[in-house]
Amino acid sequence: MGVKIGKRIKDVIARDRKVMLTLTRETYPFVPDHGDGDFVYDIEGNKFIDFSSFISVYNLGVNANVEIRDAVKKQAEKLMHGAFADYYGELPVAFAEKLLGMAPKGFNGRVFFSNSGTEAVEAAIKLSRLLTKRRYLMAFYGGFHGRTMGSLSLTASKLVQREHFGPFGPVVHAPYAYCYRCPLGLEYPSCGIACADFIRKYPLSKEVSKNELAAIFVEPIQGEGGYVVPPKEFMRELRSIADESGAVLVSDEVQAGYMRTGKFFAIENFGVEADMYTLAKSIAGGVPMGATLVRGSLGDMPAGSHSTTFGGNLLAASAANASIDYVKKNMKSLQSGIERKGAYVMKRLNKMKDSYEIIGDVRGIGLMIGVEFVKDRKTKEPATKARDEIADACFYEGLVVLPSGMSTIRIIPPLTVDDKNLEKGMDIFENVVSKADKTRGK
Ligand SMILES: Cc1ncc(COP(=O)(O)O)c(C=O)c1O
Repeated sequence: MGVKIGKRIKDVIARDRKVMLTLTRETYPFVPDHGDGDFVYDIEGNKFIDFSSFISVYNLGVNANVEIRDAVKKQAEKLMHGAFADYYGELPVAFAEKLLGMAPKGFNGRVFFSNSGTEAVEAAIKLSRLLTKRRYLMAFYGGFHGRTMGSLSLTASKLVQREHFGPFGPVVHAPYAYCYRCPLGLEYPSCGIACADFIRKYPLSKEVSKNELAAIFVEPIQGEGGYVVPPKEFMRELRSIADESGAVLVSDEVQAGYMRTGKFFAIENFGVEADMYTLAKSIAGGVPMGATLVRGSLGDMPAGSHSTTFGGNLLAASAANASIDYVKKNMKSLQSGIERKGAYVMKRLNKMKDSYEIIGDVRGIGLMIGVEFVKDRKTKEPATKARDEIADACFYEGLVVLPSGMSTIRIIPPLTVDDKNLEKGMDIFENVVSKADKTRGK
C-alpha cells in the first residue's frame, strides 16, 4: 500500500524521544489516529489492516463497535468515576454478574476489579496467599504475567524484564510445554508429558513443599513468550498437581481469554477449570480494566485487605457491560467466525510453511495464532532479526503485526475481522515472508 512517513509523524517521534522514558517500542513508526472497522489510520492518513488488535485489546474491532462507543459516551455525560472501592455501583455489579455467568458451573465466584492485567494478577497473588494461608507460588519459564513487583516475580519471559529488579517474591519456575523447543529435549507425545512429571520430581520434591504452595499461575497459551500452545494433557496435569498439593490453579487469561481462542476462557480448550481467572486487555473494549475471578468455595477477603481507587470505574464498567452484552448476543456467530477464520489462517500459514524454510512452526487456537521464524529448520536457531524485519516490512505495506517471544509474529486480528480483509492482510504477510525467506535472516 506504500505507507509514507511524513513530517508530523517524525516530529511526534522526535518529541517522544526527548520526554518519554523508553517503553517496549523498538520497531516501526506507528502513530495511530483513528480506527474504522478492521482498519486503523495514522495521524497522516496512512491506512493499515490491523492484525494486532492493539496488543490483544480490540477483540471486537478497532474502535468499531458502536455499542461500546455509545455506552462510554453516555456514561461520560453522567459520571465517569463512582468510587466503587468505597461506594456501590450498578454497572460494575452488573458486569461482575455477567462475567461470572461465563465461569464454569459450580464456580459460584466473586470478582475483584482493577485497571490492568498486572493488577488482576497482583490480586490473584494476594488472594491465593490470603485464602490458602500459604506463601509460595509456581509459574513457568516463558510466562508473562505483568511487570509490577508481584507479577514480575512470576514473569520469566525475557531477562531484560527482570534484570536489576530483584530480589523477587517466593516463586519457583518450572518448564512450560513448549513442544517445538522442548526444554527437556523430548518429543510429544512419546515424552509422556515429562515436563509435568518434572514438577513433581524436582520443584515440589526438592525446593518447595506441596504444603506451602499457594498457587500455580499459568497462561493457557503463552502470549509474550511466543504464542506457545501446550498439549491438552499438560494443563490437565497442572490441575492434578494443584489438587494434589491443595494449591489454587490460576489461569492468566489476560491475553488468551475473552473469546480470542473461540472460548470465553482459553483454558476451556483444555477441558480444565481454574480456581481463579485473570482478565484485562480486551474486557472493556479499549478502556483500561482488569478483573480477577475467584472460586466461591475459596472464600472472601476481609474488608480493607485489598482494593484500588479506580477498580470498577464507571466508564470502564459501561464499556465492559456493552462489550460482554455484544459477546453474549452474538456468541454463536462470533464462535463460528473465529473457528472459520482461524482455520483459514492456519491452513494458509501451514501452506506457507511448506514453501518457506524460514517458517519453523505455526501454532494457535482460534484467532490466537503464532508463526515462529528460524534461520535453519534443523538447528531451529531463532531468526529474531528477520522476524523484526518482517514486522517492519508488513507495516510499510499497510499491515500491523506484533512480534512476541524470541522469533514469533502473532496473527491476532479483531475477532470480527471481515473475511476479505483477513485475506488481504494474509496476502501482504505472505508477500513479505516470501521475500524474507530468500535471505533467511542471514
Ligand atoms: C498473560 C498476561 N498477563 C498479564 C499481562 C499484563 O497486563 P498489563 O500490561 O495490562 O499489565 C499481560 C500483558 O501482556 C499478559 O499477556
